[in-house]
Amino acid sequence: MIAVKSEEEIALLRESCRIVKECLEFVGSRIRAGMTTKEVDELVYNFIKASGAEPSCLGYCGYPASACVSVNETVVHGIPDDETVLREGDIVSVDLCAYKNGFHGDGARTYCIGEVSAEKKRLVKVTEECFFKGIEGLKAGTPLYDIGYKVQQYAESNGFSVIRSYTGHGIGREMHEDPAVPNYGRRGTGPRLPANCVICIEPMIAAGTWRVRVLDDGWTAVTLDKKPAAHYENTVVVREDGVEILTL
Ligand code: MF3
Ligand code: CO
Repeated sequence: MIAVKSEEEIALLRESCRIVKECLEFVGSRIRAGMTTKEVDELVYNFIKASGAEPSCLGYCGYPASACVSVNETVVHGIPDDETVLREGDIVSVDLCAYKNGFHGDGARTYCIGEVSAEKKRLVKVTEECFFKGIEGLKAGTPLYDIGYKVQQYAESNGFSVIRSYTGHGIGREMHEDPAVPNYGRRGTGPRLPANCVICIEPMIAAGTWRVRVLDDGWTAVTLDKKPAAHYENTVVVREDGVEILTL
């Protein structure tokens, strides 16, 4: 069932999402070559705590950190550690959630470390654009899989592929609620989204194959061909006449 939120609940979600947005901006201002992924995680932990919120990811299904920090061929759920040092030319996805007043906010960005290859730069840009394509025309009554259809069309028309095994999701009192929001699909299919439902739309786009494998740590998802992937995510409220993006 796709839950509808009250304006009071949306106000609380807005606050959690504001922290996510500010944290992502903060990370963007600090992330640089020479930093370990663990240091990125510490920035996130400290920022979220100082904002009076809790990092939702920490301890979620046993996840050991506050952020997912995914470098190059790691698609999502890269576990921060003190051995992985960011280097010039890397692309790094940072995905984080903040929990405050009973509600979660969720967002992700992919950062370029110094000068990156033209292909990586294009991948990061197209992934971000995929999100905006996905929300084009989105409003109450839109069939759910229209989102994925638009994301997929745009990604594939740019020569990239859409990760299949991870999706966006509803959000609220739980970090993951109904519905799953795939980044691929058939136009005009799926349940119609009700006004005031809140969903996370998060294209994960790969330069090569969309096939992934999860490392022995049980989390880290890497592309099978080791080509880079990027991730971009916002939490949005579906309204009668469009969307309200809470993490931008
Ligand atoms: N923020 C992620 C999402 O978009 C969740 C990461 S899983 C966790 O759904 F274990 F790291 F929390
Ligand atoms: Co999410």
